[in-house]
Amino acid sequence: MSSGEASPWMTDADTDHHLKESFMGRAGEIQPEPMFDPHSIRADFPALAREVRPGVPLIYLDNAATSLKPWPVIRAVQAYDVDFPANVHRGLHTLSEEATAAYEGARGKIARFLNASSDSEIIFTRGTTDSINLVALSWGRATLRQGDEILLSAMEHHANLVPWQMLAQEKGVVIRYAELAPDRTLDLDSFDRQINERTKLVAITAMSNVLGTIVPIQEITRRARSAGAVLLVDAAQAVPHQRIDVRALDVDFLAFSGHKMCGPTGIGVLYGRQALLDQMPPVIGGGDMVTHVDRAGAEWNELPWKFEAGTPPIAQAIGLGAAVDYLSQFPWDQVVALHHSLVRRAEALLSAIGGIHLLTPPNQVNGGVISFTVDRVHPHDLAQILDRSGVAIRAGQHCAMPLHQTLGLAATARASFYLYNKHEDVDVLAEMLQNAQKVFHRR
Ligand code: ALA
Repeated sequence: MSSGEASPWMTDADTDHHLKESFMGRAGEIQPEPMFDPHSIRADFPALAREVRPGVPLIYLDNAATSLKPWPVIRAVQAYDVDFPANVHRGLHTLSEEATAAYEGARGKIARFLNASSDSEIIFTRGTTDSINLVALSWGRATLRQGDEILLSAMEHHANLVPWQMLAQEKGVVIRYAELAPDRTLDLDSFDRQINERTKLVAITAMSNVLGTIVPIQEITRRARSAGAVLLVDAAQAVPHQRIDVRALDVDFLAFSGHKMCGPTGIGVLYGRQALLDQMPPVIGGGDMVTHVDRAGAEWNELPWKFEAGTPPIAQAIGLGAAVDYLSQFPWDQVVALHHSLVRRAEALLSAIGGIHLLTPPNQVNGGVISFTVDRVHPHDLAQILDRSGVAIRAGQHCAMPLHQTLGLAATARASFYLYNKHEDVDVLAEMLQNAQKVFHRR
């Protein structure tokens, strides 16, 4: 399907309305968005040209775990290693100055991408997990007292659960959960029942990595502000799939990883509101996070370097800056429409097969994730048999065990899409699932 062609999967007025409002809660005219053409960029991703085994091309549907990397990102990482492989902030020589300019330049790109107030609000970390742990170990340890409460949702992945559970054990803090509604969206009534004057932190995903559910962050911000709670948004899935404006959303902390948005592994970001970051103590000590050290002690550097001890992941940060440049050239309303149409097509084709149970909330805009179970076929077997046809999906609990316990499911299979996936990929997925059913049901 070429760019701009109407999609048969996007004729529902409700869907268009949700899509139009997008993650940002924008009100607007109800019109179908034209769709971005994935064919126009597939040559940018060398992995799409490979065969999984001779004669079997790759159909990559595991983007919620990690995305493929385009040439501009690969080349940016390589340029550091080839042209200016020096340390940052330390040397007065040309290579070090070039490395520092590229590293800090990447920070500036990310600040603009998120519409942060300043580059100082962008802390480079190893990824979403590292970013959330930083907040738990710094802000959480310094601020929370016994009996204080943290409000999470039933759909968090482990990165936004375990750091809070560890902190709760250490500090005697209580963790509460907002439940899912029957349609597997966030139950805002449940959220309202759980938030109270003891809630000091709301830590919530903007998009479920299992259900594809999008959480209305503006609604959550309003509630967190009324309760006087700090708001942390786990945007590991949301930042790759939608443009996020931290000031419009009025969040205090936002965490995400580079590798799910065309960037390298080993690099992520913690956005933090400067007033909060200024008060927070560093967690890791070492070089670069200090301005003065003597035998008695040390003075902390200013933001953002206070939180970046030691030699940082320089090549990876530069690669993430290149990923931001790469993604920024595309019309994001159209990319969102593509992801949504891929999910809609998958829902339609998989439902028609029979014996397949979908977990996506019905009639909701979805960030490009569809999880499902197949009668009498374990998801692991399914993933292995699909791999024989070159189709890469994820199977298991997707680092979200409590959500699977809530759903009463031991495991699920998950297909997740990104901007290079085409409708034909969904057709092959459906065909291979039908074949898998035949193989297993013959036994
Ligand atoms: N949270 C990542 C996923 O969903 C690892 O696959």
